Amino acid sequence: MIITIDGPASAGKGTLAQSLSDKYEMAYFDTGMVYRAVGLQLVLNGINPNNESAAEKAAKDLNFPQMMKLSKHKDFRSDVGGNAASVVAAIPAVRSALLKMQQDFALNPIFGDGSPAKGAIYDGRDTGTVICPNADIKLFITATPEVRAERRYKEFLSKGINRSLEEVLTQIKERDERDEKRASAPLKPAEDAIIFDTSEYNAQQVFEKVCKIIESKQKKA
Ligand code: C5P
Repeated sequence: MIITIDGPASAGKGTLAQSLSDKYEMAYFDTGMVYRAVGLQLVLNGINPNNESAAEKAAKDLNFPQMMKLSKHKDFRSDVGGNAASVVAAIPAVRSALLKMQQDFALNPIFGDGSPAKGAIYDGRDTGTVICPNADIKLFITATPEVRAERRYKEFLSKGINRSLEEVLTQIKERDERDEKRASAPLKPAEDAIIFDTSEYNAQQVFEKVCKIIESKQKKA
């Protein structure tokens, strides 16, 4: 089984994907990591993420071990990594260079320790539209920018990243705009996606509702 979870920044995709991965023994690919890795690699090399040829080269050179190494850097999950990711993600040559690496994951889904999984769960912006257009279940998880900013602000606080709520909200809106307006694979729900606005729900409630959707789909199948 393949499940895709797309949606804007801080909608709760990652938390949901991790809980589903644990419950259904499916391997989880957070596809934002590939763009964060490319963006951060450029920042660390002192190169502007807008530099298209350098970004394309970094994307072509990226492999899983290097991505995992970069993911340990303090700025990988901060706004520095997030903003650089959304800039390189708007470059079509970067997206095509990273396509195969993402699609290959579903061919042989495995956990971090190499053991086989019962399927793959993707989270990102284009996983139901471009990466896995034939996925069994496609979800589009969203929430208002204000709710998402509040969630991201709390996450930053817990990690010791010091930003004001206003700054976080501004960055969320900028990233939404970049993700939705880019020419290549813009953020939008797949035609057959289930759209879920999580503004009024906590993570546990979202998880329970999605489990019901998955189980009813499994029964029908
Ligand atoms: O999900 P995350 O915040 O880690 O993603 C970082 C950035 O990577 C997003 O703002 C988006 O621009 C880009 N991205 C993308 N397509 C994906 C996943 C992430 O364009 N499938």
